[in-house]
Amino acid sequence: SKTYRIAAIAGDGIGKEVLPEGLRVLEQAARKWDLNLSIEVLEWANCDYYLEHGQMMPDDWFEQLKGFDAIYFGAVGWPDKVPDHISLWGSLLKFRRDFDQYVNIRPVRLFPGVPCPLAGREAGDIDFVVIRENTEGEYSSVGGKMFEGTEHEFVLQESVFTRRGVDRILKFAFDLAQTRPRKQLTSATKSNGISISMPYWDERTERMAEQYPEVSWDKQHIDILCARFVLQPDRFDVVVASNLFGDILSDLGPACAGTIGIAPSANLDPERRFPSLFEPVHGSAPDIYGRNIANPIAMIWSGALMLDFLGNGDERYRAAHDGILRAIERVIAEGPITPDLGGQGSTQDVGAAIVSAL
Ligand code: NAD
Ligand code: IPM
Ligand code: MN
Repeated sequence: SKTYRIAAIAGDGIGKEVLPEGLRVLEQAARKWDLNLSIEVLEWANCDYYLEHGQMMPDDWFEQLKGFDAIYFGAVGWPDKVPDHISLWGSLLKFRRDFDQYVNIRPVRLFPGVPCPLAGREAGDIDFVVIRENTEGEYSSVGGKMFEGTEHEFVLQESVFTRRGVDRILKFAFDLAQTRPRKQLTSATKSNGISISMPYWDERTERMAEQYPEVSWDKQHIDILCARFVLQPDRFDVVVASNLFGDILSDLGPACAGTIGIAPSANLDPERRFPSLFEPVHGSAPDIYGRNIANPIAMIWSGALMLDFLGNGDERYRAAHDGILRAIERVIAEGPITPDLGGQGSTQDVGAAIVSAL
């Protein structure tokens, strides 16, 4: 059967600490479920590379990466060395844009044993998925600075919502909602205040919903939606959002479920024309880098999502995904766990425990 080629990129900060744990788990899963993975670690797309070369990646990065089936990515950013918009637009955001990874899937789940910061919630009460538009919207490169240095100086940055871009993310989200037991979808909007793009988003949502009579859906303004993530997280199933709103919701959701240290993401080109990218939701966490306390579970869960996507229905890959999730659940419940979850385990302790649980 086919061998899947995976490019592994650590990036910066704790990306360099959690990637090795993710790779250990993938190797163990490959042995156990007889998966054909060929993993190559690439040393670029990080801020040290930038300081040496004046750019985040080699000129031929696209050519180098396009033959891979997936990119397994840590985190990029070291703001003391390189401004964030330069490091991120020179790497991760380029991948998302140029490989047309237009769907960003970000599951949120409260696991058994995790102390929930929300009162009275237990495992099972929080189990939803944020579907984030990943290539356009508020993350546009359209705009600029005018009259610099004068009293008339201003900056302008446009949002871009194309019909194709909006419809394809909505379609993905409704398709997903239809396969889930609760068949519910919430669309994040702000059509009361953002008076051009968001009414358009709502209009396309209404149009799309007509194709999905079995899905019960609503739209909620982003402000009250954030409040309800905290107050009533059990009411959500699939939440679809624009690029920026999805970014915010996908840190808020995991925080409500205990920690952002376990939150995974899948940046997909569902049509498989280009490699998809799998990475933690969190960043490079300069504040804890070097202490071996970063939670590797977001990285490891992202690896499980990658196997499931690569296998594309192959039952060995599905079994590997499910097996890794069970191992994560078990280690969260029995330990060791890292300080973000209230434990004293190290990054390596957690990685090793998940490998042996497999
Ligand atoms: P961050 O996610 O890196 O960190 C936020 C907070 O969460 C920090 O206190 C950090 O210690 C904690 N944290 C994050 N991951 C953790 C983990 N696995 N285990 C335990 N604690 C964890 O966000 P930030 O501080 O806003 O950004 C830091 C840098 O990372 C910036 O350069 C930013 O641009 C970049 N960033 C990159 C990505 C990415 O590559 N996908 C995502 C977000 C932020
Ligand atoms: C994420 C990150 C990125 C984003 C940053 C680092 C550009 O926060 O993946 O959630 O905003 O998409
Ligand atoms: Mn984010």
